[in-house]
Amino acid sequence: MSTTMKVAIVGASGDTGQSIVNALLSSSTPKFEITALTRPQSLNKPTNLALQSRGVRIVPADLRGPIAPLITLLQDIDIVISAIHFNALADETPLADAAKAAGVKRFVQSALMIIIPPRGVVDFREKKEENLHYIQKLRLPYTYIDAGWWHQLSLPRLPSGRVDHLLPPAAQHDGFPLGRDGNVPTALADLRDVGRYVARIIADPRTLNRRVHVYNEVYTLNRVCEVVERVSGEKLERRYVSRAEARDAVDKARMRLAHSPGDTGALLAHVAAQLFYSWGIRGDNTPENAEYLGYLSGKDLYPDFEYVSFEEYIREVHRGEVEGVYQSR
Ligand SMILES: NC(=O)c1ccc[n+]([C@@H]2O[C@H](COP(=O)([O-])OP(=O)(O)OC[C@H]3O[C@@H](n4cnc5c(N)ncnc54)[C@H](OP(=O)(O)O)[C@@H]3O)[C@@H](O)[C@H]2O)c1
Repeated sequence: MSTTMKVAIVGASGDTGQSIVNALLSSSTPKFEITALTRPQSLNKPTNLALQSRGVRIVPADLRGPIAPLITLLQDIDIVISAIHFNALADETPLADAAKAAGVKRFVQSALMIIIPPRGVVDFREKKEENLHYIQKLRLPYTYIDAGWWHQLSLPRLPSGRVDHLLPPAAQHDGFPLGRDGNVPTALADLRDVGRYVARIIADPRTLNRRVHVYNEVYTLNRVCEVVERVSGEKLERRYVSRAEARDAVDKARMRLAHSPGDTGALLAHVAAQLFYSWGIRGDNTPENAEYLGYLSGKDLYPDFEYVSFEEYIREVHRGEVEGVYQSR
């Protein structure tokens, strides 16, 4: 492969997509030439226009349309990365078909999630596994990458309201929920580092046709609270959630979604309840579980990787230096 790798990315305008693009643009060895495939209706999104001004080629691509134009778009592309929204994962099937037909050398699907058992805990995780099986049926070279729970989603609301502007709307309620006794370990990553891990992984022959788990540190939510309280000087309102309460929340969210299947709020509430049950109660999101499930570890592959620690992130928050995620939802 030449020292310039040609990457096509779907979902470049999303939160994960932007982290990946930032890392690819910053890389010198190898260099990456980036084409962002965006839905036709998103062509003039401000995020896409900003990416274009930074040297990303933005092209419209209808993953639900005929496959021939997709194959043409992927001719000469070395690597396809999908960071597509979790509710559009079905669109990865035609993307994989086109990548196979175009001779793409590596396909990275939109996994990029915390460690969750492939089946039986979180519905969209099952779709990701199904997509992996489809890729393997095609014998399309791939890497399946999962990443720690973002720092940006681990920020508790402060009683003063000082960080409300950084929180996704769903997190702007009083009381920080901690699963069980608050001592369940969970692997964290800073969103800005996720793209930097992906940039290393896609240029690494050791990760071809493997699952890779990347994370920065392992924290419990009690430790999250301790760090936030120490740095902010504010006392958090901790709300301990039992296994039964979390299970009940999943059941209620499932019923709400069943009654209003097209309701985005109901969908997000169901996903949030299932995810919390997985990482906050069951404790699925750990490096040990990743190893058990057969992932390579980013810690072994890239021992030199310099990451943003959770404490540093919280200090940045209190210096007013960071942006929030999912602000527009
Ligand atoms: N580890 C973690 O803590 C964590 C946290 C959040 C998400 N994730 C994972 O990261 C991956 C990407 O998630 P994200 O939150 O970064 O993505 P996102 O911002 O929600 O969406 C990414 C992009 O998907 C494209 N898209 C295509 N079809 C869409 C549809 N029907 N609805 C909305 N967008 C659509 C859009 O790009 P265009 O408009 O340009 O087409 C959008 O900008 C997912 O697999 C998710 O599970 C992981």
